[in-house]
Amino acid sequence: MYWLLILLVAIAGCTHAQLTAQTSVAPELRECYLDPLLVNRNNLPPSTIQVLIDIIQKIEDNSDVNVDLRQLSALVLHTLIPSNLQVLANTTLNSSLKCAIHHMLSTTVDARVRGDENTCNQLSQYRALRTARSVNDDVEILNLAQIKSATHGNMRQYDPNDDVEFSNYGGSKSEKQLLGESQCPLLDGVAFTDWGAVSTGNVIAGIAAGAQLQQVPVVELAKGSVLNYNNVQQTVTSIYPATLSGDLAEAVLIQGTDRGSPSIAIGTAGNWNSSQAHRHYMLHSRVNVEMTDPEIRGDIDGFLLGSTITNALNSYSSLRLSQLLDMYYSSRNGVFNADFRACNRRSLSQQYITSANLVGETYAFAAALDTNMPLRGTIIGGLESLVNSAVTNFQSYTSSNLNDLSCLTSDGQSPDYRLKTNLYIALDSSWQYSAVYPAIAYLLDAIEVGKFGSSATLLSAFDGSIVVNTTFSPADFHSNYTLLKHQSMLTGVNLETSLTNIRLMMQESLRNESLRNYVGGNSTVLLYLINSGNIQNNEAVWEQARQLNNTVPDLRIIFATATNQFDSLWNLVRDMHNDIKTIALSSTGTNVEIVMGSVLERIQQRTRQFDDFVEPGYINFYAISPNYFFEQNDNRRLRVVRSSSGVGSLVICHSRSVVQPSGNIEIFLQNPCDGFWTINSCPPLYLSVQSNTGGAAATSAVCTDSPTTSDIKSRSRSWDVSVGLAVLELVSSSYSLLS
Ligand SMILES: *[C@@H]1O[C@H](CO)[C@@H](O)[C@H](O)[C@H]1NC(C)=O
Ligand SMILES: *[C@@H]1O[C@H](CO)[C@@H](O)[C@H](O)[C@H]1NC(C)=O
Ligand SMILES: *[C@@H]1O[C@H](CO)[C@@H](O)[C@H](O)[C@H]1NC(C)=O
Ligand SMILES: *[C@@H]1O[C@H](CO)[C@@H](O)[C@H](O)[C@H]1NC(C)=O
Ligand SMILES: *[C@@H]1O[C@H](CO)[C@@H](O)[C@H](O)[C@H]1NC(C)=O
Ligand SMILES: *[C@@H]1O[C@H](CO)[C@@H](O)[C@H](O)[C@H]1NC(C)=O
Ligand SMILES: *[C@@H]1O[C@H](CO)[C@@H](O)[C@H](O)[C@H]1NC(C)=O
Ligand SMILES: *[C@@H]1O[C@H](CO)[C@@H](O)[C@H](O)[C@H]1NC(C)=O
Repeated sequence: MYWLLILLVAIAGCTHAQLTAQTSVAPELRECYLDPLLVNRNNLPPSTIQVLIDIIQKIEDNSDVNVDLRQLSALVLHTLIPSNLQVLANTTLNSSLKCAIHHMLSTTVDARVRGDENTCNQLSQYRALRTARSVNDDVEILNLAQIKSATHGNMRQYDPNDDVEFSNYGGSKSEKQLLGESQCPLLDGVAFTDWGAVSTGNVIAGIAAGAQLQQVPVVELAKGSVLNYNNVQQTVTSIYPATLSGDLAEAVLIQGTDRGSPSIAIGTAGNWNSSQAHRHYMLHSRVNVEMTDPEIRGDIDGFLLGSTITNALNSYSSLRLSQLLDMYYSSRNGVFNADFRACNRRSLSQQYITSANLVGETYAFAAALDTNMPLRGTIIGGLESLVNSAVTNFQSYTSSNLNDLSCLTSDGQSPDYRLKTNLYIALDSSWQYSAVYPAIAYLLDAIEVGKFGSSATLLSAFDGSIVVNTTFSPADFHSNYTLLKHQSMLTGVNLETSLTNIRLMMQESLRNESLRNYVGGNSTVLLYLINSGNIQNNEAVWEQARQLNNTVPDLRIIFATATNQFDSLWNLVRDMHNDIKTIALSSTGTNVEIVMGSVLERIQQRTRQFDDFVEPGYINFYAISPNYFFEQNDNRRLRVVRSSSGVGSLVICHSRSVVQPSGNIEIFLQNPCDGFWTINSCPPLYLSVQSNTGGAAATSAVCTDSPTTSDIKSRSRSWDVSVGLAVLELVSSSYSLLS
């Protein structure tokens, strides 16, 4: 990732490389601001934690990239890099993904080394970890003249070569805000999570700093200037300025000088302007935006993850950055401990962040920053009391104003099983893109499209042709399914043509899988999203549906239509009362969760099968279609293998009629289709496997996501903390494809 990295300078004899940000956008990133296609955020994947994790996985999975968590977290923030590190090739990510990750971490990446690192200040490397800073000759992102003319008082001479924070004046925080007078400025560098919008650059900065924890002398940060304040502690711990005290000190200095306010305001709320297409985060205010809500969350999360990273690496030394984020921003699970996850942010912050330490660290950092930072005025009254005010307000704001989803609510709202489904969407392009895109984005999120989750494929409802090919990557899906792509689709719905082509494609892929000895045909949902009225159904259509039904037994067809079309579609689905839904999508994409809830529920009934990993806190559900055990075979049995030891036990339940069985039921597989004449009349075997850990936290872990055994379907969230890998084997079985 040449464009993020730029240049490395290692100072001989120094424990850390001095690296500073140049006040311009790196050439490799300019296209993100110049190319009209890339400038339009709607052409980039949305800013969500899933997309960020996905892009990080792409970097980690790249065979040319050989860096560990420590190096990668620093690398994406271009600082603290060991001098021998191999630079990532500029082909690691293409433009869309490069710009997408840039915008998610944009408070950190628009900087490069100037070449005068010998004289640069130490401060910059911590500010560079998380500070918005961008001035550019070619691209007018930040209006320098405006900043200069706005300054007054004791403002020090602005030195374009000095790597200091200067983009915060006039209530402006990010690059974009400086362009206008918007009352609801856009905040960049923010990613959506279920537990509130998070400044992900701050999170990564905390991880990077925690992975290379250092005590930095304050005199070094002050570049030899004499501090204006007394009783300042001698050193700061690097994780503080990278996260909490970085923003707090900034708020203290800017608000303290700008307004001479005795009380430092912390927290600025905001929202995404679309509940499903998370691309624009808008602040509710343009004053006191030094420490916005997403930054508070990012600072806390970064501080917590940075504080625990050494322990986590002790538990599992080849832990990946993507895995760490995935475990923390997960409905269940947590970082080797169910308590250590984003929904628990508030209580974790009370547990890990002590007021006295935060005050001491912030005071020291603010005192050092004050010697370096061009400010609009001087601090009147004591710096220490302003720091106290900031820390007090931070703590009260965090406990009273950040009302993010709690673990209790979060557990209640999310299923305790992982969704692993292949979702095929046959789309009628007569839907307005603005109406249907949020609905599709919602489904993809909810079924956890991802490396270890579900896949998505977008087809045309006109002829079944592929619009976006099957992918497990949300970033790939979103960068391909653009407005332009939508508009280029053939319009209209033709069930006969599309079902025929979809059937042929799925049969071919089943054949491909059996050639690869893959048994267990994935649970598959074919969802028709239809806007047009008067859908034609006839004998020929029904015949296609029947063949699909009989030859692809793990497939379920669901119709979601804009108008009630039950009367024309009822004979095409397996369960006419549940598999046909009417959905009223609004053209602005609002209320998607409510509108699509019932469709999602049907998809959730379908989960994947066979070898898989049981995670603490989750139940895995499986459905084995009768095609695997229709033919008579006395030796056939289903075996659940526990591949490694651990605390806790596996609870296994099965049923022939209850889709998600719970409670023990006896297994019977010798003649499971006795009395049934056809495959389709013989019910599948439903199975569930649950880990029973008794709530124990892990002290050591084994990762089942081994990058070398690609044939094992593995999951990053699958930590062998309790019960380990359960492999379900269907012994002496062969697949019958009778229709
Ligand atoms: C990658 O960098 C090389 C030079 O280092 C340049 O020639 C090439 O055009 C770049 N490729 C892309 C895709 O930016
Ligand atoms: C969100 O705001 C951006 C920037 O103003 C705009 O381009 C986009 O259309 C808005 N999206 C919605 C759904 O309102
Ligand atoms: C997305 O589009 C690119 C070309 O722009 C293509 O190479 C890629 O295969 C597509 N990905 C999917 C998942 O369809
Ligand atoms: C879709 O992906 C499959 C599997 O990777 C591939 O065989 C097929 O050629 C692709 N189809 C299109 C239209 O890109
Ligand atoms: C970038 O790569 C992703 C796959 O990693 C692909 O889906 C997307 O279409 C590509 N974008 C461009 C502009 O090539
Ligand atoms: C099946 O495999 C063939 C040969 O590898 C490939 O061309 C084809 O696209 C595959 N079909 C599907 C649906 O994956
Ligand atoms: C079935 O799942 C496996 C593993 O997730 C995947 O590799 C394969 O492509 C899937 N097959 C289809 C047809 O989606
Ligand atoms: C599909 O198969 C099921 C049995 O598995 C049967 O009840 C249903 O009627 C079939 N539907 C169609 C459209 O053939």
